[in-house]
Amino acid sequence: MTRSDFPSDFTWGTATAAYQIEGAVHADGRGPSIWDTFSHTPGKVRGGDTGDVACDHYHRYLEDIRLMKELGVNAYRFSVAWPRILPEGRGLPNPKGLGFYDRLVDALLAQGLTPWITLYHWDLPQALEDQGGWPARQTAYAFAEYAGLLSRHLGDRVKHWITLNEPWCSAHLGYLAGVHAPGQQDLGLAVRASHHLLLAHGLAVPLIRQNAPGAQVGITLNLSPAHPASPDPADVAAARRFDGFQNRWYLEPLFGLGYPQDMLALYGEVAPPVRSGDLETIATPTDFLGVNYYTRTVVRNSTLGPYRFQAVQVGEERTAMDWEVYPEGLAELLLRLSREYRPKALYITENGAAYPDEPGPSGEVHDPQRIRYLERHLAQSLEALREGAPLKGYFVWSLLDNFEWAEGYSRRFGLVYVDYATQQRRLKASGRWFRDFLREAVVRP
Ligand code: FCB
Repeated sequence: MTRSDFPSDFTWGTATAAYQIEGAVHADGRGPSIWDTFSHTPGKVRGGDTGDVACDHYHRYLEDIRLMKELGVNAYRFSVAWPRILPEGRGLPNPKGLGFYDRLVDALLAQGLTPWITLYHWDLPQALEDQGGWPARQTAYAFAEYAGLLSRHLGDRVKHWITLNEPWCSAHLGYLAGVHAPGQQDLGLAVRASHHLLLAHGLAVPLIRQNAPGAQVGITLNLSPAHPASPDPADVAAARRFDGFQNRWYLEPLFGLGYPQDMLALYGEVAPPVRSGDLETIATPTDFLGVNYYTRTVVRNSTLGPYRFQAVQVGEERTAMDWEVYPEGLAELLLRLSREYRPKALYITENGAAYPDEPGPSGEVHDPQRIRYLERHLAQSLEALREGAPLKGYFVWSLLDNFEWAEGYSRRFGLVYVDYATQQRRLKASGRWFRDFLREAVVRP
């Protein structure tokens, strides 16, 4: 497999998110986000790590763009920190916050890199959480105002927009599991949050289109094929519930099918407060679906929790996140999406793996497992493309090692190693491999 097996106009990129890399949390009038509050709450993040400094990308973005040039990618997916633009969540924009993204976008364009903006990658302004957060309907309107404002400001230069990153994580991990900000544990809150996130997306799409003529607008979901742990009908039904919980709950309303009936029945009295017109708004047609793929989920029936399933550990090969390496799931997923939902285009907006990388005596980071992981997932992408999936691009998660949410800095996903004590960056072997792949210069023994 070489780069030229993919279409010549294929998008090749790396992805990051604001809170995970920027640092500079007090710079230039940025307001606090739910992740500042959460990471500063004792016991929430491994090792007490916070995003206060992270990769200091806020000050080092030019160096990071040079690294992308060295890799030879043609696109960069990053997120904008809502609390830099609107420190209180709503109201008048902070010119210095806008200024940072002006400089970033202009520097990317000057280097021939296409900017892909994610409007929301989990850093809700704390002021909005204080007014009810995503379980409150008004947060969807606040998001639409922010999306309108930012697209008015950058829409002349930015033509690729992702409204939300992984609303399942914002809703479920943030408001039910409680392992992400804001750390709530309430099923009703989580279900309401998911509806308002989807509504926020739908409200934003036409505003972005209007402000960024010719733009491609979409949403990114984290999807995972659900496989039953055994042929037992109870496990098969549990896998179906998992699919409803993680995949169909988001896909079906986005593609005009409404919320899945089986899940509405399961939620019963905590079903979301859908108002007239909401489902039409959520189903506003988009230009692409962004897919974040890391692993499949193997599920068995259980009596626990509202969903009555349990994920089971299978497979010999696992990453440092303890996620099974299962490349076949990527082709399976892309083909299913193509068949069942007919998206205009699909982009893999994240794919990658964490391993316990450390520099050897010469300073080199040797990460053959990550190279294998990426190669095998690219092979599956190609397979799906050949079988007809409208796949248009692939972004590696991540450009840099960074703040991996509840795991802090303990999980390294980068193609570039970051020494957090000195902020020194250096390409890992996987970074050099990806560069050579993109140059069509991979040497086979
Ligand atoms: C995804 C997130 C991203 C990163 C990867 C490992 O769920 O979108 O920020 O943490 O997982």
